[in-house]
Amino acid sequence: MREGTDTLTRREDYVAPSHWIRTVDLSFDLEPAKTLVISRMQVEPNADRPGQPLRLDGEDITLTRVLVNGESVSFHFEDGQLVLDKLPAEPFQLEIRNTCAPEKNTQLSGLYTSGGGFFTQCEAQGFRRITYFPDRPDVMAVFKVTLKADAKRFPMLLSNGNLVESGPLDKGRHFAVWHDPHPKPSYLFALVAADLVCREQKIRTRSGADHTLQVYVRAGDLDKTEHAMNSLIASIAWDEARFGLKLDLERFMIVAVSDFNMGAMENKGLNIFNTKFVLASPATATDIDFGNVESVVGHEYFHNWTGNRITCRDWFQLSLKEGLTVYRDQEFSQDMAGSPSARAVKRIEDVRGLRQTQFPEDAGPMAHPVRPDSYQAIDNFYTATVYDKGAEVVRMMATLVGREGFRRGMDLYFARHDGQAVTCDDFAQAIADANPDSALATRLEAFKRWYAQAGTPRLKAAGRFDAETRSWTLTLSQHTPATPGQADKWPFVIPVAMGLLQADGTPVAGSERVLVLDSAQQSWTFDGLDAAPVASLLRGFSAPVILEWEASEADLFTLLGHDTDAFNRWEAGQRLAVARLLGAVRAGTPLMLDAAYLDAMRAVLRDAALDCAFKELVLTLPSEGYLAERLAEAGEPVDPQAIHAAREAMRAQLARALHEDWAALWEAHASTGGYRPDPVSCGRRALANLALAHLVLDAVAHGDTVWPGRALQRFKDAGNMTDRLGALSALVHGRSPLAANALERFHAMFRGEALVIDKWFALQAAAPEHDGEVFAQIRALAKHPDYSLRNPNRARSLLMTMTALNPGAFHRADGSAYAFWAEKVREIDGFNPQLASRLARALDRWRALAEPYRTLARAAIEQVAAKPELSPDTREIVTRALA
Ligand code: ARG
Ligand code: ZN
Repeated sequence: MREGTDTLTRREDYVAPSHWIRTVDLSFDLEPAKTLVISRMQVEPNADRPGQPLRLDGEDITLTRVLVNGESVSFHFEDGQLVLDKLPAEPFQLEIRNTCAPEKNTQLSGLYTSGGGFFTQCEAQGFRRITYFPDRPDVMAVFKVTLKADAKRFPMLLSNGNLVESGPLDKGRHFAVWHDPHPKPSYLFALVAADLVCREQKIRTRSGADHTLQVYVRAGDLDKTEHAMNSLIASIAWDEARFGLKLDLERFMIVAVSDFNMGAMENKGLNIFNTKFVLASPATATDIDFGNVESVVGHEYFHNWTGNRITCRDWFQLSLKEGLTVYRDQEFSQDMAGSPSARAVKRIEDVRGLRQTQFPEDAGPMAHPVRPDSYQAIDNFYTATVYDKGAEVVRMMATLVGREGFRRGMDLYFARHDGQAVTCDDFAQAIADANPDSALATRLEAFKRWYAQAGTPRLKAAGRFDAETRSWTLTLSQHTPATPGQADKWPFVIPVAMGLLQADGTPVAGSERVLVLDSAQQSWTFDGLDAAPVASLLRGFSAPVILEWEASEADLFTLLGHDTDAFNRWEAGQRLAVARLLGAVRAGTPLMLDAAYLDAMRAVLRDAALDCAFKELVLTLPSEGYLAERLAEAGEPVDPQAIHAAREAMRAQLARALHEDWAALWEAHASTGGYRPDPVSCGRRALANLALAHLVLDAVAHGDTVWPGRALQRFKDAGNMTDRLGALSALVHGRSPLAANALERFHAMFRGEALVIDKWFALQAAAPEHDGEVFAQIRALAKHPDYSLRNPNRARSLLMTMTALNPGAFHRADGSAYAFWAEKVREIDGFNPQLASRLARALDRWRALAEPYRTLARAAIEQVAAKPELSPDTREIVTRALA
């Protein structure tokens, strides 16, 4: 199917291209069954590599003609590439004609059809599925694109840049010509030809420039585009204000498509989005969806500078643009959230995501450095490590040079590299050079180990109080476990933001600082203390490490109640919960919550000074996946069912013991008035939904019908999707007898809303497992007429939800859910390798499992590996998993 991708590509093998492509003139005759592509390129031999043949990538396309300066030339194919030798030593014109079959393109990479329209996805290597080209990011060309298609079926013809000409053709066809003045790599090319409508807004920015902003969607979806448009306008203003980066295009377009492998794509001037991250209305989208739309719109927009104006030299440098852009979108969302506590809530959510997905990745068979050393399929390296750990690496740089220093560094980065394709080293060098005296610049080589070494460092902290000298000495040490191909690690440079509290919770004046650990072990002494302090370490999660700190229960209660750092307040609460949950799992005894913990949770819920959003985070227990990782880190076998049972027991006890508080919170926050997705309203809805979930859970356990009845009423009356889904989830996840009927109503109510039907599947797939009922339901839902593996969102709604978010349903002692998973991965791999290889990662951590899960999981992975003609993508995943 794919040629040339089942071999390893190595970072150290990088060589500059033999030829530069200065301009590309592309012409498309768009027909779903067979599209004709003509590419006319202005080619210039690279003076540094004279006499080399020109190798052009191509995949699943049919070549019909090759001309050099208008003459036919000899060519051959080698390793799947089209090779031209005996080329002129001077610049020349190359013309390629080929065809492709968009409607047969089920991989959704390259040019494909969705809902009757044409769309493209070229990152990382989709352009070669459109035409022969040096499909690598360091070859940058000015594109001119002519689109021709049937005018009725494809009224909108879009590509990058500016529209220069359009008009009718014969036989009911029409055309449009687009010109993008910015040289760009092929992965940023895009075209759309479809029946779409658009929301348009003209803006004038702070610097006085005029722009046209457009959001294109299917006809029925226009009422769901306001939030995306507002998010785009906010992103433009933010990048200009915070980083001095202006929109460099007259026209900026966002297009929504319902079949899309990933979240969205930053094609120059023509971003293409998964509908999930564009469409949002109060009736169909939750608060979380609204937040995601804002952050993904921001992310793709910010790529216009960090990714497009400065791009990657090669795909090993992917984090150069992704880590930096995730950092930027996180900062944007925090700034949009506004208040310090709303910012902290966002930070907690980001860290929770990092620890839920990146930490396990870094501890498993797919562990790789932020800048990987090799790959078989680059699409497998669009990972939590490259994105989210990459963002943490940028955040640490910002911590080490300070906010202004980071801005200076960004300025220097653009002054040096605008218009270039560069490396992660170039970025770090610019930040350091702009801050020559900083803790970053003085340790730059050591700091860059964050790019090179995989694995999550363990940071050990130990404190010793000396009453005689009234001093407290903190000793920090680090160790990073071995990862595939990397047995021994050098020490990392770890910024540890911290502060000290007195036992009564008051801050110790002047104790706040950022320690920089840059060796295996180091100590710091704090003087003038009357007693041993309570240490608040790694504030704001200042580094992506596992902090091994044996804080006493008393200290954790103090931190939970009083720390000035909201992240560490939350973290202390999580540590208290983890200790209880894992205590029960390890002892093999039923979990029994103690009064001290319950009192502390009650105090949080009753604290008038705390935001609802924060309370909701504190009272949300660590996920089963997170708990599993904690055991795995300690080298203990993971029994997912024991973890599930302990967590369910703890939820039930919180529901019972805090019943009055849950009821009071529900009364206070159930009604938030007209829908606004601001942090305060979102926090109130989140807390009210958490309260309702506990109230229904407790009622069902005790045969009470009042709260389930209220939840049903809420479900029916809800004025927005957050409240409606919250009530539905309380009923379904609380196993209320009213759930089945509510589910049916919900389905009927939203029959025509694909993204809501995705939620309907996902909600059921996420239900806490009980005697195998949930897995049985998932299996049944997989046969539902609305279910389909062909649409990635729909496929994920059941499968990803089960494998990533519902360990209780997935890890079954009879292995039936593993077998079900293996069967689906094999099936999907036959038509969409990228989607299959994502799903194939579900059992990455099989080695950490207790028996019988471990053996059964291995067998299921072998089952996937045994499929004849497995794609290189999925092959890479299962081979690593079994290695
Ligand atoms: N650059 C896109 C983003 O992060 C992601 C594209 C990934 N696509 C892929 N097939 N791996 O915004
Ligand atoms: Zn990105």
